[in-house]
Amino acid sequence: EKVVLAYSGGLDTTAIIPWLKENYDYEVICCCVDCGQEEELDGLEERAKLSGASKLYIEDITDEFCDDYIVPCVQAGAVYENKYLLGTSMARPGIAKKLVEIARKEGATAICHGATGKGNDQIRFELGIKALAPDLKIIAAWRQDAWTMQSREEEIEYCKAHGIDLPFSADSSYSRDRNLWHISHEGLELEDPAVEPNYDHVLVLGVTPEKAPEEGEYVTMTFEAGVPKTVNGKEMKVSDIIRELNRLGGKHGIGIIDIVENRVVGMKSRGVYETPGGTILMEAHQQLEELVLDRATMEVKKDMGNKMAQICYEGKWFTPLREAVQAFVESTQKYVTGEVKFKLYKGNIIKAGTTSPHTLYSESLASFTTGELYDHHDAEGFITLFGLPLKVRAMKMAEAEKN
Ligand code: ARG
Ligand code: SIN
Repeated sequence: EKVVLAYSGGLDTTAIIPWLKENYDYEVICCCVDCGQEEELDGLEERAKLSGASKLYIEDITDEFCDDYIVPCVQAGAVYENKYLLGTSMARPGIAKKLVEIARKEGATAICHGATGKGNDQIRFELGIKALAPDLKIIAAWRQDAWTMQSREEEIEYCKAHGIDLPFSADSSYSRDRNLWHISHEGLELEDPAVEPNYDHVLVLGVTPEKAPEEGEYVTMTFEAGVPKTVNGKEMKVSDIIRELNRLGGKHGIGIIDIVENRVVGMKSRGVYETPGGTILMEAHQQLEELVLDRATMEVKKDMGNKMAQICYEGKWFTPLREAVQAFVESTQKYVTGEVKFKLYKGNIIKAGTTSPHTLYSESLASFTTGELYDHHDAEGFITLFGLPLKVRAMKMAEAEKN
């Protein structure tokens, strides 16, 4: 029987290969899903086979990650607990989908992952697999009693005992997860929220605002129906737009957050996230929506964005609710077309002008010199009715006090 293993080439997923063979007698098919993590994938096949896998699939889903997960979340304005732009959360369902696809192709009966038993990732992988392939067995290696390794040293020992002699560093760094959208950092000094992050060690995609250039830099972006189309006049696919924005944002110290978040499994955890390009992209999209969406739609859409964030964070991507929320959001994007200009300066995204052919903003209406559309006298009657319930209540209360 075959098992498909979500494989990165790192120590954890390497140790899982002999462990699966020893404890389950499976043939191990490794699958490395690339969501734009910019890792060296050369030599990975050799590495997987040296570790006892019979095959390695390297699947690049970066563009699918952009089109099917990132763009819908940007359009929704999905942000978890006011800060987290969901970089890891959005990638997990796409990875689960690919693992299922490979399992089907190989006729495998199980999928194995190396996420810990304390995190969100196990939930996201497993809900994704359950939704797409309810018949497949799921093996969460770290949650099994047969998994006895408790440290990197023990894992290295285990590998050596099984004839796998690969270079693994013994030092454990931050727990990181990187893809095109972001990199997350957890662990080490970050585990104490009272401690300031050691940014010189933490940051990978950019610099702190202090170390950013003294000179600001302009960036111009266009959108069509809520989809990003160009950066600085150059038409690019979404993944290239994010790459370019990551470069610019990283350089100017944009999109670094430090958050204590609530994990699905109940504990609070502290993390630092770098989302340089994503932060710019989401801000630009929101600037355009400010111009083109009416007030009532914006209000409901805000709720839908929060819903989307929660759905995504909790790994409930392949559900009718996510589809329905996404459909609502999509129907609001028809007129989100136009151009946004920003100046990036030391961690700040400073507005430098927004235009849209569908803007609802009317200068003559908004300006203080009265125009045709708006008669100040109309405001008087409006306020009389708008304020009526407040006035009635106040009158009733004054009456009651007298008695
Ligand atoms: N806490 C974040 C989330 O739940 C990031 C998780 C990072 N995952 C990892 N395997 N290091 O989405
Ligand atoms: C993990 O446990 O694999 C990382 C942390 C998380 O999933 O939240």
